Amino acid sequence: MERTVTSVEWVAGKVRFIDQTKLPGEEVSVETSDYRVIADAIRTLQIRGAPAIGVAAAFAVLLAVHDKDIASQQDLEKKLYEAINYLSQTRPTAVNLFGALNRMRRAYEQASSSAMVSIWSHLELEARAIQQEDVEACRKIGELGAELIQQGSSVLTHCNTGALATAGDGTAQSIITTAARQNKILRVFVDETRPHFQGARLTSWELMKQGLEVVLITDSTAGFLMQQKEVNAVIVGADRIAGNGDVANKIGTYPLAVLAERHMVPFYVAAPTSTIDVNTKTGEQIPVEERKAHEVTHVSGVRIAPEGVKVFAPVFDITQNGLVTAIITECGILKPPYVESIAGLKRQPTQAVANET
Ligand code: MRU
Repeated sequence: MERTVTSVEWVAGKVRFIDQTKLPGEEVSVETSDYRVIADAIRTLQIRGAPAIGVAAAFAVLLAVHDKDIASQQDLEKKLYEAINYLSQTRPTAVNLFGALNRMRRAYEQASSSAMVSIWSHLELEARAIQQEDVEACRKIGELGAELIQQGSSVLTHCNTGALATAGDGTAQSIITTAARQNKILRVFVDETRPHFQGARLTSWELMKQGLEVVLITDSTAGFLMQQKEVNAVIVGADRIAGNGDVANKIGTYPLAVLAERHMVPFYVAAPTSTIDVNTKTGEQIPVEERKAHEVTHVSGVRIAPEGVKVFAPVFDITQNGLVTAIITECGILKPPYVESIAGLKRQPTQAVANET
């Protein structure tokens, strides 16, 4: 199975990304040398998915320091901190964003006494490393997670966790496609994922391209399906995992976990260690992004709710660790108690540094 798409890449001094808001109707690539364009793309979900946001932010910092108006190292430093500050205000929940920005800041600090040209190459190496580590993490997550999947499984997934959301083959989706290559997957139930329809628009598109049998369901169908014993496992991604294993992921994940427990279906969370934030002790401390009312009252620009209606639009929820059967990372499969298994993780030193405050 080929990777469906490359979400974000560095091409000859520019960043190229696929505009995810146009999918599946149109496959539009955008190229830019302005870091603010990347920040806007993150804010407007043209670039989305925790790991992809991190990679895009790292490349955006690289764009900022390549500005042709930079004449001195002082200018470069100013631009770098401005860009990091600007990018850090795009979306609050996915910790990969802050991890990547931290790594770029530290890479600069390590190289700051060198000539400008070696600062540039040091920063480029770091951004490429963030990208490459995610490619490798996705592969490993797929390999490890597929071991948990039984032959002939129907799995249910939420949101989009594939190539579009990462630099590699995805997190939860990498498990699904790896298990499919091992002929273990019968079908994939894909939640449409209101309000932005990442499941309907992106996950269905990616998985169908890879030849899997996809059954699209509304978000409220999962309970009925589990009651009918049609789901063998739920596999989702994460935007931030607290030190105790509480999981922030796309709104609608928590009800799935409750249903899975009720129906004795394993509930798996797949995420690279760059999504684990040990500085955030519990899920209650994770900032949950709320988005604008029109994203709920309108579908594809068409109003579906009465003018003036009040709207509450958090786009993530928190699943308590007790509902999570296992967390699959590139460094191993974590089991409860998560405070211990997360503390015992043998991470790459870069990830430990990235998530320091
Ligand atoms: O708002 P989004 O589309 O950025 O939310 C994405 C998710 O919730 C994904 O499940 C998560 O980032 C994991 S992506 C590998």
